[in-house]
Amino acid sequence: MLRLPPGSRQPAFLQTLHMRDPVRYFETLRRRYGPVFRMKLLGFPPQVVVSTAELAAEIYRMDGDGNRAGALRAGYVPWVGQHSLLTNDGEEWWRHRKLLSPTLHGRSIANYPELIAEIAAKDIGTWPLGRPFTLREHMQAITLEVILRLVFGVRDTEQGARLRAGLIDLSKATGSAALFLTPARLRAWAQRSPLAMRLPFLPTTRAAQAVETVDHILFAEIARRRAEEDADADDVLGRLLRARDDQGRPLSDQEIRDELLTLLEAGLETTATGLSWTFERLMRNPRVLARLQEEVEQGEDDTYLDAVVKEALRSRPVIFGMGRLLDKPLRVGGFEVPAGWVAIPMFSLILQDRAVYPDAGEFRPERFLGEGAKAAQKSFLPFGGGRRYCVGAQLATLEMKIITREVLRHVHLAPADPAPEAQRMWHATLIPGKQVVAVARKQPPKRRAPVQEAKCPVHPALSDDAG
Ligand code: HEM
Repeated sequence: MLRLPPGSRQPAFLQTLHMRDPVRYFETLRRRYGPVFRMKLLGFPPQVVVSTAELAAEIYRMDGDGNRAGALRAGYVPWVGQHSLLTNDGEEWWRHRKLLSPTLHGRSIANYPELIAEIAAKDIGTWPLGRPFTLREHMQAITLEVILRLVFGVRDTEQGARLRAGLIDLSKATGSAALFLTPARLRAWAQRSPLAMRLPFLPTTRAAQAVETVDHILFAEIARRRAEEDADADDVLGRLLRARDDQGRPLSDQEIRDELLTLLEAGLETTATGLSWTFERLMRNPRVLARLQEEVEQGEDDTYLDAVVKEALRSRPVIFGMGRLLDKPLRVGGFEVPAGWVAIPMFSLILQDRAVYPDAGEFRPERFLGEGAKAAQKSFLPFGGGRRYCVGAQLATLEMKIITREVLRHVHLAPADPAPEAQRMWHATLIPGKQVVAVARKQPPKRRAPVQEAKCPVHPALSDDAG
């Protein structure tokens, strides 16, 4: 007999109201109903939530045949188009995944660290010293510039400047709260209605106009780059132009345009938010900050920096959960979930699992070092899992490490208010409630190791006698 997971009997609209504080709500449900529970939110199919990495693996196991992630996301980001890795499923998704992945991994991004550090240093040079400012705005500016240069290949040309302005506009228009709060059906209607499209103050009209402007510039840029045939271009656009699928087919202009906007959509705010939380946590944990500062000053190793970035993503996950629409029934944790439901590995619960992360509320990067590291790593799912694992995880981690190091090299940061910033829901992400208000001071001159007297490399004893 079908055994559904336990869950709240409250009407959907009441359950939806709890989403003002999703982290606390999910935690309450987990305590009340156990590691697998169901939920019903307005506008969504019924949902089943799991709260451990083992249970998440049972969902990811079905990614190959019968899980649809794209269908769930499609209504929220229509501007990424029909060929987007985010919103597609099945064969079309797999073809694109295979073409896009190599452009964001390994050797393709090996030359990026220097450029990322340069972009970060330029922005840090503009930070006010000695008075409070919002750090998140600067993280957004830095990560936008990184995407513009490394993904879109924007150069200091007039066309590049227009694309930059267009993408900033697009990012603001499509990220607006007004657009997000417009119900999906109304949004779809407004974007089809000639009358609604003539009302410039509507968020749907602003988004559509921003998309049109960017499309115009982007298609011209794609045509220009195609004609240029630069076989050495190492930005993502250059690599996508050269990419060929299993049957030797290239991506069309429309497919490339859709994937470029996909990377902007998926990679911009997420990375900026991950960095913002890293500093929010570091500033409130002086012991960790001091240890990291020391590693940065010595400049030889990045082991601790790596652990700090992981611990930031664990303790303050950017995306609280990412679901799968089930094409087939799913067995999970001894329960049976019908097809048509949504199954969600809830990262904000998995990354706080006390059986894996003792004292989970503490910011302790050491859990990713030494003996316990293997277990900590196994449940580390801030980038999701299964076949839809974040395709930009490697680039995001690289960015977070390089930018964090560059900031610590230049300034000392302190929180304007020592109280931790709350996790506030923003679209599918959790952002710091006050955007990370910090006070920066110039980093004091580095402590230097005592200068050793120069010695003759061949006869050191002779050098000692000299003079
Ligand atoms: C800290 C930064 C980031 C976080 C926390 C993050 C997190 C995630 C998560 C949770 C998913 C869903 C995985 C799943 O469904 O199981 C995802 C998917 C995705 N991410 Fe990221 N991401 C980040 C940065 C980036 C960057 C920098 C890019 C690219 C430039 C990117 C591109 C994508 C794409 C295209 C997908 C869809 C993959 C697919 O469905 O096949 N992400 N990301």
